[in-house]
Amino acid sequence: MDLGSRPLEMRRTNKDSLNKNVSHNGVLTHLAIIMDGNGRWAESKSLPRLAGHRAGTENIRSIIEESAKHGIQHLTLFAFSTENWRRPSSEVEGIMNLLKNVINSETSPLHQKGVKISHIGSLEGLSKELKEAISYATNLTRNNKAICLNIAFNYGGRAEILEAAKKILTDDISVRDLDEKTFSSYLDTSGIPDPDLIIRTGGEMRLSNFLIWQSAYSEYYSTTKFWPDFKKRDLRKALDTYKQRTRRFGEISTG
Ligand code: IPE
Ligand code: IPE
Ligand code: MG
Repeated sequence: MDLGSRPLEMRRTNKDSLNKNVSHNGVLTHLAIIMDGNGRWAESKSLPRLAGHRAGTENIRSIIEESAKHGIQHLTLFAFSTENWRRPSSEVEGIMNLLKNVINSETSPLHQKGVKISHIGSLEGLSKELKEAISYATNLTRNNKAICLNIAFNYGGRAEILEAAKKILTDDISVRDLDEKTFSSYLDTSGIPDPDLIIRTGGEMRLSNFLIWQSAYSEYYSTTKFWPDFKKRDLRKALDTYKQRTRRFGEISTG
């Protein structure tokens, strides 16, 4: 590609695909959370790992409520990665069952609160019952406006990017027409702004294949608290920290 012949256009495209609130005044549109540490939480209490996953799912409702209270419009929760299939099958099956049960029990109360539920990731390999539960929840809540809850389940950033590239080739998108905006529209997160803040519980300092395209300019916050112990006040602390950050998107801070 002849980069030299299209500098202005490239510059505009790069900027358009980023959230443009350089001085963000604490505004946080999209919060994403890597809900890690369920296993260690359980182990620290001499409980089976699955008890940690159960406690983790029970924590979700209060975090959705607190997020909505702070005006967050999109909340993306990383619940199961494409790499988590490498775990023992008993744990994988247990997590699948938990998700199915939690969708079945929480969809109605979340619907009443105006939560729109979406799924990002692949449905491949999921049981018929789990796929039906996801489809029921997303269809029932599709017109809700209070907050968008995106469940990243069987999600991996590299797989998402690869799928997007394949669809772009299938659609015969020309090299001339392919820009960041078009590429983004082929991702599972199409229509969702990039995450402003990514919180990771459990203390690790890595993305583990989460939103790797979308997180280019996200702020990071890592806490050693395990996910089942991450409460509303912990979320408030993370949001306060975010407010102190200066986001520049490559520009020079204007004060
Ligand atoms: C996160 O908790 C949930 C999933 C990855 C499914 P973990 O199960 O990874 O908990 P730790 O990291 O082993 O403590
Ligand atoms: C990331 O946690 C995935 C989820 C929280 C769903 P992992 O526990 O799978 O990440 P690694 O293996 O420590 O990088
Ligand atoms: Mg983990």
